[in-house]
Amino acid sequence: MASVARNTENAFRRPPRDLPTLPAIFGGRGESAGAVAVVKRAALVAGGIVGGLGLAGAATFVYANQIELKAFRLKRVRVPALPAGHRPLRILHVSDFHMTRSQRKKQRWVAGLDALEPDLVVNTGDNLGGADAVPAVLTALGPLLNRPGVFVFGTNDYFGPKPVNPFRYLTGKKRRPSAEKLPWEGMRAAFIERGWSDATHRRLEFVAGGVRLAVTGVDDPHHGLDDYDSVAGAPNADADLAIGLSHSPEPRVLDRFADDGYDLVLSGHTHGGQVCLPFERAIVTNCGIDRARASGLSRWTERMWLHVSNGLGTSPYAPVRLFCPPSATLIEVVARES
Ligand SMILES: [Fe+2]
Repeated sequence: MASVARNTENAFRRPPRDLPTLPAIFGGRGESAGAVAVVKRAALVAGGIVGGLGLAGAATFVYANQIELKAFRLKRVRVPALPAGHRPLRILHVSDFHMTRSQRKKQRWVAGLDALEPDLVVNTGDNLGGADAVPAVLTALGPLLNRPGVFVFGTNDYFGPKPVNPFRYLTGKKRRPSAEKLPWEGMRAAFIERGWSDATHRRLEFVAGGVRLAVTGVDDPHHGLDDYDSVAGAPNADADLAIGLSHSPEPRVLDRFADDGYDLVLSGHTHGGQVCLPFERAIVTNCGIDRARASGLSRWTERMWLHVSNGLGTSPYAPVRLFCPPSATLIEVVARES
C-alpha cells in the first residue's frame, strides 16, 4: 500500500510529459530545449505567413501597376436604339485618359483606334494627368480628331491630380479637387479647331454615318458642375438617335435624360471600380450608380440605355488596376427590333 501511495503521489507531482515545464518555458534546464524549439518554429511559421503576405502584396502591386495598367483593350457592344430598318452607327467611346507625357504606349494605342473607322468619336472627359499633358492627349487622339467627335469634360480636366490615400478610394468617399488649374481651355480650343464639338450644356444636332443625331451634354455632375435645366427638354423629334453625355453617370442626371426621351447616355468617371474582384466586379463606383453598372452597357429605363466606359487611365497617384483592365469601347448602334 505504501508503494502504491508513493507512486500515486509521484504521479501527481510529475508534470505530464507533453507539457512544457516552467523552466522550459523560461529557458531553464530539463525540457527547455524542446520547448524553445517549438516557440522558434511558431515564430518561423508566423514570420513566413507575414513574409508570404508581403510578397503576395508586392507581386499584386507590380502586376496591377506594370501589367494590367497598360493592358489596353477594345470592348465591343451592340445597342438596339435606332429606328427600325436604319443602318448601324459605329461610335468609339473613349474616356478617362488621365494622360501624362510619358505614357507613350497609351498614346500609340489610342491613335491606333482610328483603324476602326468609327462614324463618331465620343470623349467623356478626364483627359489630363498633369498640366503639361495637352500635347500628349492631342498626339493620342491625333487621327481621331479628323472624324466627327463630341466631348464633355470631367473634373480632372479642370483641376490637377493630387496625392490620395489609395484605401480611401475603396471607401467611396468623394475627394475634393486640387487647387491646381489645368489648361483645359487650350485643349478645348484644339479639339474644336480640329472639328470636334463641345457638348457641355449645349444641344447639338448633326449627321454622322448617315444618322441624324441630337447630342446634349452636361458638365461634370460629380462635383455639382451640371446645369441640366439649361439644356432640358425633349430632343428634336426628327433625330434618329438622341445621345446624352455626362462625365459621371449620376442617377439624377440620367433620370433627367430619360424623362426627356433620350435613347442612350455615355459616361465615364467610374474607372469600372479600378480595383475590382475577379471578372471585373466593382467594389465601388465612386458615384451614385450601383456597382453592377460601374462599366459596360445597361438599361436605365425601358427606352434609355447607359454605357459607362471603365476608361484608359488612373490618377498618377493611384497607378494600379486590378481585374479591371483599361479599355475603349466600339458601340454599334443598330435598329430596334420593332
Ligand atoms: Fe477619371
